[in-house]
Amino acid sequence: MTLPPSGLPRDEVLAKLQELRAGDLAARGGRTFAYVYDPARPDIDELGHEVYASYLDVNGLDPTVFPSLLAMENDVVDIARRHLGSTTAVGSFTSGGTESIILAVKAARDLAGIEEPQVVLPVTAHAAFQKACHYLGLEAVLVDVDPTTFRAVPSAVEAAITDRTVLLVASAASYAHGVVDPVEEIAALGLARGIPVHVDGCIGGWLLPYFRRLGIDVPAFDLSVPGVTSISVDLHKYAYAPKGASVVLYADPAMRRKQYYATADWTGYTMINATVQSTKSGGPLAAAWAVLQAVGDDGYLELADKTLRATRRLVEGVGKVEGLRVLGEPEMALVAVASDEVDVFVLCDEMNARGWYVQPQLGYRGLPASMHLTLTASSDAVVDDLLVDLAVCVEASRGVVAGDEGLLAAVKDLNPDELGDDVLATLLPLAGIEPGDGLPDRMAAINTLLEAMPMRLRERLLTEFLGLLFTPGNDAG
Ligand SMILES: Cc1ncc(COP(=O)(O)O)c(C=O)c1O
Repeated sequence: MTLPPSGLPRDEVLAKLQELRAGDLAARGGRTFAYVYDPARPDIDELGHEVYASYLDVNGLDPTVFPSLLAMENDVVDIARRHLGSTTAVGSFTSGGTESIILAVKAARDLAGIEEPQVVLPVTAHAAFQKACHYLGLEAVLVDVDPTTFRAVPSAVEAAITDRTVLLVASAASYAHGVVDPVEEIAALGLARGIPVHVDGCIGGWLLPYFRRLGIDVPAFDLSVPGVTSISVDLHKYAYAPKGASVVLYADPAMRRKQYYATADWTGYTMINATVQSTKSGGPLAAAWAVLQAVGDDGYLELADKTLRATRRLVEGVGKVEGLRVLGEPEMALVAVASDEVDVFVLCDEMNARGWYVQPQLGYRGLPASMHLTLTASSDAVVDDLLVDLAVCVEASRGVVAGDEGLLAAVKDLNPDELGDDVLATLLPLAGIEPGDGLPDRMAAINTLLEAMPMRLRERLLTEFLGLLFTPGNDAG
């Protein structure tokens, strides 16, 4: 595309955008079980959008010149810390879970100040921790979880600790299986050794306290647990704020100090940044603040109740479908469904063909492949219909084998380190991926192939794919 020689009329611009959006997944309506968090409250969406837009031009770079942002951030942090077991913790508003995690890892690294630092991560910890380690020069030490409960095993975490460990991580809850790690035990390990412990509450931190109030036996996981030194909670997930909203909290201000970055060593203003971004729109913070005010505690309890009811019906319903089982015992509204009778990747395709977006999760280190569903308050209205279709889809999936056996055998033995980028690009069409055409409707064969290949090859192949996608002219998805 070239820049229009003269500006287009507003209606034409909006019509073009609408055309572009036609191919997007539906963000509202409850049929999309990943990526989006739908409160099924148009009033809340409208308020969030309005406030977001009204604050778009305000810059969060300098809290002294836009004091309304400073006041709102302090309010949001205060609300979040009280929700998570502390009246004294300090924190920051960030752009999302990944940024909160990167900052918590940076704080732990700089607090320890040692050579070749390590972070101990149960394999169920969100991949954002590995990204943080990669960006910040730490080593991620991965630890297997219990293969039945999918929870971290404290003795395995303990065995992985060395004199270079600067952070232990526990999830509340984990994305893939929706279970809460034994935070108290892991935090006790950290406390005994003087090692900080971060609880990833990005997806569960907001919802779990409400689930507890609704009678679910949620184990202790927040800042009230001795040894928990930091926690992250995303407001753009179960607090239903527009995207770009998370909070990272620290029990001790000394640790948050290590999160900040300052330099006076250049020609301009002394740069002092609380977070990764420097210039940042005030939109996400103002919208999150407004949504928290408008929903209120009773509103969130009601949204959590709808979410819980939907999750219970789903878990119960899946148990009645011959051939399906829920992995572990999710304490959250995240459900992983596996099968020994049908190929779950085929099942995901069948569900997608019937207008449900469900997410395939590849098998990993002996843990089975599964179909992931993130439930929200909007799931309550649709989950019974979903269960009807699920049973139909299981039958339609029986006997269907995805993937070409010859190709599967060939990719198993490929060594990614011996393949040049040009060779990798030629593998993409073989795998059924043609960037100019977008992804095929049926993904089971591709998922089977991706699962079969060595992980490093998968990473490189998908990196190649992403690069091709983000090449102008290749985006006709
Ligand atoms: C447990 C957990 N941690 C971290 C993240 C990363 O959050 P974000 O996508 O907002 O960066 C997610 C996202 O789903 C998550 O589920």
